[in-house]
Amino acid sequence: MLREFIENDIPFLVEISNQCFGKDYLTSNYFRLIQASTTLNCWVKISANYLVGFIVIERITDQNLNTNFHDENGGINEFLVTQNSKKTILIKQVAVHPNMQNKGIATELIQAFFDTNKYESVSYISILWNRKQHNGLKNILSKMNFTCIKQVENFWQKDSLEKKYLCAECKSIPCVCSASIYYYTQIT
Ligand SMILES: CC(C)(COP(=O)(O)OP(=O)(O)OC[C@H]1O[C@@H](n2cnc3c(N)ncnc32)[C@H](O)[C@@H]1OP(=O)(O)O)[C@@H](O)C(=O)NCCC(=O)NCCS
Repeated sequence: MLREFIENDIPFLVEISNQCFGKDYLTSNYFRLIQASTTLNCWVKISANYLVGFIVIERITDQNLNTNFHDENGGINEFLVTQNSKKTILIKQVAVHPNMQNKGIATELIQAFFDTNKYESVSYISILWNRKQHNGLKNILSKMNFTCIKQVENFWQKDSLEKKYLCAECKSIPCVCSASIYYYTQIT
């Protein structure tokens, strides 16, 4: 079952995030912010009564465009402006409990958002974490016809210094991981 997250889910969301992204990357406060937000949404996958994965998306508006991407990484905001899309959705985070990976859960979570927008012209953007051992969402998004528009070095450097989380991949502060920016436009 997929559903929007509720307050009681927060400890489980934080636990999955700690395991998948690194301790304190996403905090309880982050999920409370989502509850109060008009542009952020978080959906969870429940399997046998356990929360096994989640997706966070954000509708990009003119107001939050500049807050979503670090300007010093250059070009992403400008790219979105030139696309002139009526509706753009940022896939912010997708995480699946390590014991439940490779069962199609991330695919199902992303597809669910596609399905809710299938009659609209929507653009999707996703920031992929380049990892050595696991390509994260790369294959999933490629199968969904996303294309890579840009590679950005040290994407989370500023964020990791501000929040002081220890990245699960590079295990350093600041984070030195790079990101691949994937994009897809659905024309109806
Ligand atoms: C990346 C991540 C979200 C993927 O979640 P997942 O639920 O394992 O993803 P899926 O099962 O949908 O897809 C993974 C693979 O399983 C395959 N798959 C899809 N449905 C499947 C099914 N029913 N049974 C078995 N495998 C399936 C997919 O084709 C994909 O294969 P490929 O990547 O080798 O081509 C998960 O590994 C994770 O949480 N990683 C840590 C956090 C992270 O890196 N997040 C992404 C940041 S960019």
